[in-house]
Amino acid sequence: MITKKTINDIVETSRIEDVVGDFVNLKKRGANLLGLCPFHNEKTPSFTVSPSKNIYKCFGCGKGGDPVNFIMEHESVSYPESLKYLAEKYGIEIEETQTSQAHREEQQKLDSLYVLNQYARDYYHDQLLNTDIGKSVGLSYLKNRGFTKETIEKFGLGYAPKDKDAFTQAAKRKGYKGQQLKKLGLTSKYDSDFFRDRVMFTIHSVSGKVIGFGGRIMSKNVKAPKYVNTPETEVYNKSKVLYGAYFAKRAIRKADECILVEGYTDVVSLHQGGIENVVASSGTSLTVEQIRMVKRYTQNMKILYDGDSAGVKAALRGLDLVLEQDMNVKVVMLPEGEDPDSYLQNVGSEAFKEYIESQAKDFILFKSELLFEEATGDPVRQSAMIKDIVASIAKIPDPLKRSLYIKECGHLMKVEEEILMNEVNQIVTKSVHQAEDQRKKDQRQYARKKAAEQNKNTPPGNGNFPSDPGNFPEHAPFPEDAPPYFPEEEMYVGMAPPPQPVQRRPSAANNAEYQEKDIVRLLISYGGQPFDAEDKEVTVARFILSNIEDVLDDFDNDLYQRIARECLDMTIDGTPITPEYFIQHEDKDFRRLAIDVLQPEFEMSPNWLDKHDLPLRSQPMPDANFNNDSISAIYWFKLRKLDKLIERNKASMKKAIEEKSGEDEVMKAMKIHQKLMEIRKDIALKVNTVIVR
Ligand code: CTP
Ligand code: MN
Repeated sequence: MITKKTINDIVETSRIEDVVGDFVNLKKRGANLLGLCPFHNEKTPSFTVSPSKNIYKCFGCGKGGDPVNFIMEHESVSYPESLKYLAEKYGIEIEETQTSQAHREEQQKLDSLYVLNQYARDYYHDQLLNTDIGKSVGLSYLKNRGFTKETIEKFGLGYAPKDKDAFTQAAKRKGYKGQQLKKLGLTSKYDSDFFRDRVMFTIHSVSGKVIGFGGRIMSKNVKAPKYVNTPETEVYNKSKVLYGAYFAKRAIRKADECILVEGYTDVVSLHQGGIENVVASSGTSLTVEQIRMVKRYTQNMKILYDGDSAGVKAALRGLDLVLEQDMNVKVVMLPEGEDPDSYLQNVGSEAFKEYIESQAKDFILFKSELLFEEATGDPVRQSAMIKDIVASIAKIPDPLKRSLYIKECGHLMKVEEEILMNEVNQIVTKSVHQAEDQRKKDQRQYARKKAAEQNKNTPPGNGNFPSDPGNFPEHAPFPEDAPPYFPEEEMYVGMAPPPQPVQRRPSAANNAEYQEKDIVRLLISYGGQPFDAEDKEVTVARFILSNIEDVLDDFDNDLYQRIARECLDMTIDGTPITPEYFIQHEDKDFRRLAIDVLQPEFEMSPNWLDKHDLPLRSQPMPDANFNNDSISAIYWFKLRKLDKLIERNKASMKKAIEEKSGEDEVMKAMKIHQKLMEIRKDIALKVNTVIVR
C-alpha cells in the first residue's frame, strides 16, 4: 500500500495541465486550456482543463476528474498504478506500507517521534506566550522585530527557557522517554536541554509535520553560536529540507516561482509581508534534493542575496547544481547592509516586490559580469573566468539556451563567441559520451533483468501488456489505444541531457499530423546530411524514406505526403536535398512549410526576452540529435498508421459480430487483431528503446 503521506504528496504536486499535456495538445483559452478529447472522437475541441481547479472536464462526453483520474482513464490503469505514474513524473519517492510486523513497528516508532516533536513545539510556543520570561525575553524580541501574533502562531515560533533542563523535565513528566528526547536532539547526552534561552523556529516537513527546530540566541553571549539547529535525526534530514516549504508550496506553484533566502527570519518576514513563495536554505548551500523538491512546484528560482554578503561568489558556484536541474535561476542583490527581512521592514512590501522584480538578473549573466569586473587586465584570471562561466553554461540541458548564453556572455566578457562555444561543446560532448555509456550500461542491465523475469514468470495470456509496477515506468503499460508514454526526463536519467530539438514535445505525440510533420521537418532540415558520420552514403532522407516507403500512401496530410514523395524521387535521382531547395521551391506551399519547419516557434520564456533584452540573434545550435530523431519519428509514424489499421479492423470485427456474418469472419478479424497488436507492441517497445536507450 502506498502511504497516505505519499498519496497526499502526489495529489498536491500533480498539475492537471502537465499531466494532460503529455497526451493532448492544449491551447490556452482564457483561464482554461482546451483540446480535443482523448476519450471520444471529436473535431471541435470541448475538452477543458482548468489549471486553477486542477481538473479536466469534457463537455462532449462528460468525462472529468483530477490528474489521478485522468491517468487511470487514459492509460487504463488502476488507482495505485496511476499514483505511481504521477510519482515518477514528478520525482516523488513512493513510500509503501509493508504489512510486515517489523515495518509496522518502524512506522510506529517514527510516528512517536513526530508526536514528541509536536509536543516540543507546543511547549516552546506556550513558553513564549504564557510565561513571564518568555514574554519579556522572547515575545518582546519578536514583537520588536515586527512579527505579529498571527505570524507567531502560524510559524509556531516559541521560546526555550534558560534553565538547564526545564523542557526535558517537563517532557519526562508527560511520559516521554529520555532516549526519545535524545534521538530527536532535544536533550543532550548529559540530560540537559539542547535549546536554551533561544527564540525557537519550528521546522516543518513539506507535508507539515514538525521535524526539527532552529533556535536564535537571546543573550549577548558572544561565544555561543547565534543559531543552533536540530542535528540530523531519523525525521530530520537537513539536505532534504527547506525551511518554510510547507507554507510556501501553494504560493510557489501559483507564482510559478520560488524565492530563496538565507534565514528563518527572512522567510517569516516575507510571509508576513504577503510574499509567500519563499523558502530558506538555512545558511547552507543548496543540495540536489532541495532543488528537486522545489522543482516539483516550479522551474523558476529567484535567489536573494544580502547586500554585504562577501560570500556571494562562493554561493554562485553552488548554483551550477540548479542549472543542471534545468531550472531558470535569477539572482537579486539587496542594497548594501540589508537582508530580505530588514529591507522589507524598511521599505514595505510593495517597494520590496518592485525591487526584487526590477533587480532580478539572470544568474549566468550576473556571474559573467561579476567575473569580468574582477578579471580586467589579468590574463590568468581571465582564462579562469572563461573556464568558470563555460562550466556553468555547459550545465544547461537546453542547447538553445546554451547558445544564447554563449552569445550574451561572450559579449559581456568581451570574449569571442567562438572560443566560448568550443569550450562549452567540449564539455557537453564529454558528458554526452559519458551519459551514452551509462545508458548502454543501464540498458544491458535492464535487458538482463527483463530476461531473468521472463524466465520466472509465465507470460500473461490476455494479450494486454503486463503492467509491471516494479519496473515502472521503463515498462509502462501500453493500453491498446494510447500511444506509449515516455516522459521526456526519462531520456536523460542522471545526466546532462544531450542536445535536443527544442520544438519537439511528447505532448503532441498523438496528433497524427504532428508525426508526419516531424518527418517532413527532418527531411527538409537534415535530409541531405549523412545519417551516420561513418557512412556518408546513407543520408537522413534515405534512411527515413527507405523505412517508411511502404506506408507513404498512408499520409494523412496531402502536403506532407507530396514532400515526402518528392524527397523519395530526389533520393533515387541523387539530387541533393537541402533546406534551400525547399525554401526556393516553385510550389508556394512547399516554401511556406519549409520556412515553418526551419524556423519553429521557440518556446522561450517571455521573461527571458523581455527582462534581459536577449534578442534571438542566433539559430539553435545545429543539434546533433537528428539521427535519433529520425529513428523515433519513423516509429511514431508507423505506430500511428498501425493504430488506424487496428481501428479499421476493430470496426469490421464489430460489424461481423453485429451482422452475424458467421464465426469464420469474426475469427479472422480477431486473428488479424492479435497480429496487429503484436506488431504494435514491437514498435511501441522500439519507440521506448530509441528514447530510453
Ligand atoms: N545560521 C545558522 N547558524 C548560525 C548562523 C546562521 O544556522 N550560526 C542560519 C540560520 O538558518 C539563519 C541563516 O543562517 O537564519 C542566516 O543567518 P543570519 O543572516 O545571521 O540570520 P538571520 O536569520 O538574518 O537572523 P537575525 O536577523 O535574527 O540576525
Ligand atoms: Mn537578519
